[in-house]
Amino acid sequence: MSLIIASFPETRSLAKKVAKSLRVPYADIKVDKFPDSEFHLVLKKNPNRKKVVIISSMAHDPSQKLLEVLLAGGIARDYGARQVILLATYFPYMRQDKHFIKYDSFSSKHVLRLFDEFNKIIAVDPHLHRVHNIGKLYSKAQKISTNKLIADYIKKRFKNNFTILGPDSESKQWASPIARVLKKEVVILDKTRFSGTRIKQQDIKQELAKNVIMIDDIISTGKTLAGALKIARHHGAKKLVCVGIHGILINNAPKLIRKYAELVTTNTIPGKYAKIDIAPLLVDTLRKYK
Ligand code: R5P
Repeated sequence: MSLIIASFPETRSLAKKVAKSLRVPYADIKVDKFPDSEFHLVLKKNPNRKKVVIISSMAHDPSQKLLEVLLAGGIARDYGARQVILLATYFPYMRQDKHFIKYDSFSSKHVLRLFDEFNKIIAVDPHLHRVHNIGKLYSKAQKISTNKLIADYIKKRFKNNFTILGPDSESKQWASPIARVLKKEVVILDKTRFSGTRIKQQDIKQELAKNVIMIDDIISTGKTLAGALKIARHHGAKKLVCVGIHGILINNAPKLIRKYAELVTTNTIPGKYAKIDIAPLLVDTLRKYK
């Protein structure tokens, strides 16, 4: 047996489930802090001659989580791992995917490149907007997608006719293929972002079906979906469901959305609304490393 799945507390139950399905050992990564807040990590199994897959969701304090993962990868390397793979259920910093203003940070490129000690980075639905292929940002990175799991979930749960709505042009890469599989109409809104918290969507001309399911990759402040919900309601939608892949859900995001819609996310970021389990996707992806 040459594979070990290692993980941090946040993704422990997902990682354990994946390890159990693959019948490979699971190892906790213990994180302590020194008084000045520097980290000290311990990997709870010997990685010597193993392929080590580190599963981490790096939302909620992403800069800190990135460092934890980097240090964990370093442990595996130092103690003789044959391969070190990061499976990022959420990979942060991906929205800053170009220089937006003069002399600002093109973060996705530089953050990915921090993972030089890793043999591979597998990211679940990273935010790819202007750069469509994550391999172009960093050659050792690849993406995997939850689209099939989301389509299966929607198919099982919603039997009435509905329209799929993408709240902005980036969401098309999820909304359109899912609508295609489900053979449903898809409407994509146009959004302008003025800052991290200020956005505006363009109104549409057409009327929508009574049931609308919105799909977006990241739900952070919830403002993108709240704006789309307003437009959908204005155009005839009565029963609304918001499906997010990565539920960062900061501040009152759930409240903003749940006022008008049901909220469901995948468990790439564990939480109260994480009803779509990505374990089967991770198991399928990692099987070949056994
Ligand atoms: C942006 O391009 C993403 O696809 C999401 O639409 C965005 O990150 C959502 O952010 P918020 O919930 O803060 O509007």
